[in-house]
Amino acid sequence: MLDWLITRSILILTSQRFKQGGARYRLRDAGLDLLRFQIWFHAMNRCLDFSKGLAYAYAWRPIEFRLWCARLTACDSRTGTRARRDVENPTTQDRWRGLTPSEARDFYDRFGEKQDRQGWYEDAAVRDLLVHSEFHRATSVFEFGCGTGRLAEELLTTHLPEECCYRAGDISVTMVQLARERLSRWSGRAEIELASPTIRIDARDARYDRFVSLYVLDLLSDSDIRALLVEARRVVSSGGRLCLVSLTWGQTMLSKAVSWGWARIFDWRPRLVGGCRPLALLSYLDPRAWKADYHNTVSSFGMSSEVLVATAVGRPTRET
Ligand SMILES: C[S@@+](CC[C@H](N)C(=O)[O-])C[C@H]1O[C@@H](n2cnc3c(N)ncnc32)[C@H](O)[C@@H]1O
Repeated sequence: MLDWLITRSILILTSQRFKQGGARYRLRDAGLDLLRFQIWFHAMNRCLDFSKGLAYAYAWRPIEFRLWCARLTACDSRTGTRARRDVENPTTQDRWRGLTPSEARDFYDRFGEKQDRQGWYEDAAVRDLLVHSEFHRATSVFEFGCGTGRLAEELLTTHLPEECCYRAGDISVTMVQLARERLSRWSGRAEIELASPTIRIDARDARYDRFVSLYVLDLLSDSDIRALLVEARRVVSSGGRLCLVSLTWGQTMLSKAVSWGWARIFDWRPRLVGGCRPLALLSYLDPRAWKADYHNTVSSFGMSSEVLVATAVGRPTRET
């Protein structure tokens, strides 16, 4: 009503019909003006609502969606995004909420032979690693987290020279038993040990020329990954190879969506995904200790794996 009075006053003051000394402005005119104003006012309101709706749908909603995605990514404490940030800023490491070594041991003790059913996404990446690691030249191999001994069996059957020895460690009692049974026919060359939860390899410096680990780094905390790479450099002789495969971020639409979803589940309940999350392995590699020779991402059925082969260079660094 106040709006109408103000508008009416403006109209009267500017109206041709308003003459000094004889206003011809009557009650009927006022009624008509009020009606016109009401129509105009409601029409304007509808237009405003409509344009606000358009602006919300086409301008604000995409921004809101991006902000929401960015917030989710920022909450992501163990994914590659955070991992990359952790490399630059070690103070974020204490946010690790993945499986502890004893939780990982309990999980894999129960998981046991089911690990071998993961070949549908692991096999293609492992084949790629085998092609680029020159195992036929190896003299001594160490595998960290050997699981059921599947890779060891393939290495000893097909790739390693007769004189090459193989040694492995795993934190899970079940896995150690399974691997020992599987490799029993190479008892003279293959040795499987129960690993301690500390990232410490019981071997003298430069003992091996291949250090292999498949799908294990992706379940370690960022600080443990770095500690393991330092330890790997210690036990690998100069010129020896680091051969790693881990889950990673997808590069196609499907694999990006899968790795993103995987990381979200990991954030929510790490146990549901075996404690593994997508990593960016290359970002952990110290260029003073390793020279990357081969790096690839292999996707199978939407699951992406990072394959990394690096040569030991320089002198072993000590953990700080
Ligand atoms: C996803 S499975 C991979 C097994 C095997 N490398 C393969 O590709 O089939 C992870 C393995 O790492 C072992 N593991 C986890 N944390 C470990 C640690 N801190 N030290 C040694 N092994 C560990 C688990 O017991 C399990 O066997």
